[in-house]
Amino acid sequence: MSRRWCRKLEVAILSFAGFTGLLFLLQNEKSRHDLKEAIEISSPIRPIVTEHPKPIAECRENVSVANLSGFAELPDHIKNFLRYKHCKEFPLLLDVPEKCGGPDKSYDVFLLLAIKSSPGNYERREIIRKTWGQERMYAGVHIRRLFLSGQVANAREARKINQLLKAETEENGDILQWDFHDSFFNLTLKQVLFHSWMEARCPGVRFVFNGDDDVFANTDNIIHYLLDIPGAGDEHLFVGQLISNVGPIREKWSKYYVPEQVTASNSYPPYCGGGGVLMSGYTSRTIYKESQGIELFPIDDVYLGMCLQKAGLAPASHSGIRTVGVRVPSSKLESFDPCYYKELLLVHRFVPYEMLVMWRAINQPNLICGKRLEVYQRL
Ligand SMILES: *[C@@H]1O[C@H](CO)[C@@H](O)[C@H](O)[C@H]1NC(C)=O
Ligand SMILES: *[C@@H]1O[C@H](CO)[C@@H](O)[C@H](O)[C@H]1NC(C)=O
Ligand SMILES: *[C@@H]1O[C@H](CO)[C@@H](O)[C@H](O)[C@H]1NC(C)=O
Repeated sequence: MSRRWCRKLEVAILSFAGFTGLLFLLQNEKSRHDLKEAIEISSPIRPIVTEHPKPIAECRENVSVANLSGFAELPDHIKNFLRYKHCKEFPLLLDVPEKCGGPDKSYDVFLLLAIKSSPGNYERREIIRKTWGQERMYAGVHIRRLFLSGQVANAREARKINQLLKAETEENGDILQWDFHDSFFNLTLKQVLFHSWMEARCPGVRFVFNGDDDVFANTDNIIHYLLDIPGAGDEHLFVGQLISNVGPIREKWSKYYVPEQVTASNSYPPYCGGGGVLMSGYTSRTIYKESQGIELFPIDDVYLGMCLQKAGLAPASHSGIRTVGVRVPSSKLESFDPCYYKELLLVHRFVPYEMLVMWRAINQPNLICGKRLEVYQRL
């Protein structure tokens, strides 16, 4: 199935599943419990927010790309990508240098949540802070959170939104913002900048969750899964929803359209859907090193596949990571049970209020979920 169709199917299935699931949950009103008992309190490492962008020479547009045959006919965002893809360094406008307690103490951070968030997505960030993205100690290990952001294109809008991000990070200490235009085709740039930031600030982090701000990540399950992985982050790990044997979409109307001028190759290396992946600190550092020698490619998840391939490492599949939705099994009522979500690590496309409702539901102390294995087998 092509990626395009996957996406359409994903939207259809998830809208249906999400809606019906909520009906189920709302009926369960009486069994709601206060979550405070279930969630441990944030640990005391308080990040300091600084705003001293290191001066970096402004990156010049590559005017020669206009010579590429067919350039004039390309959509504007692709023209822009080609003009600026050689630019890999941008000043940090908002930094949280102490996020991991400094490079030496960063070994104590077990899981760093690095969530890509467009500057305007305030509500999504707020709800993630309150639900699955809480900075906390769980099962004896530390979870830390960061949102990765750029700038909005419109200068007037940017001044406003930059005030918002500043206020948010003063309160929560959890935003990295770089001075580049936050757009779909700049997501790879955001990814690469994050790896380079990690190299400097948090080189010892054991594991990284890297995903979008519209996913629901069951961080409790993620921690249990990662605690069982040998090597505590010093060995290769890169898991998500594996996609292989696909190539660039050449249809102009698609969001994922990648023309010949960007890549002549008709195939992509195996990669994991970018909605959410888990990687070890080792693999994150490897990606950073490889990214130095690989030209930016506009689709961020494919780019990570390219970095892994160059390093001779393989991405892998985890059945609990559903960036293309939960398959709806035959018995309908049962399938909308929060237990489905309790067993998963990650599901794509949740709106903020759904995250809140689902997080509360799966944390109910009296939620009894049996048939654990069956859930995995059905997916
Ligand atoms: C490519 O573009 C540059 C800048 O516009 C121009 O100076 C140069 O002559 C062009 N080269 C070719 C091979 O067309
Ligand atoms: C500018 O674009 C041309 C045409 O694609 C390419 O050959 C050249 O290497 C690029 N220059 C830089 C600095 O990336
Ligand atoms: C990426 O960001 C740079 C710097 O702001 C900008 O010049 C470029 O147009 C952006 N690229 C895309 C594809 O949006």
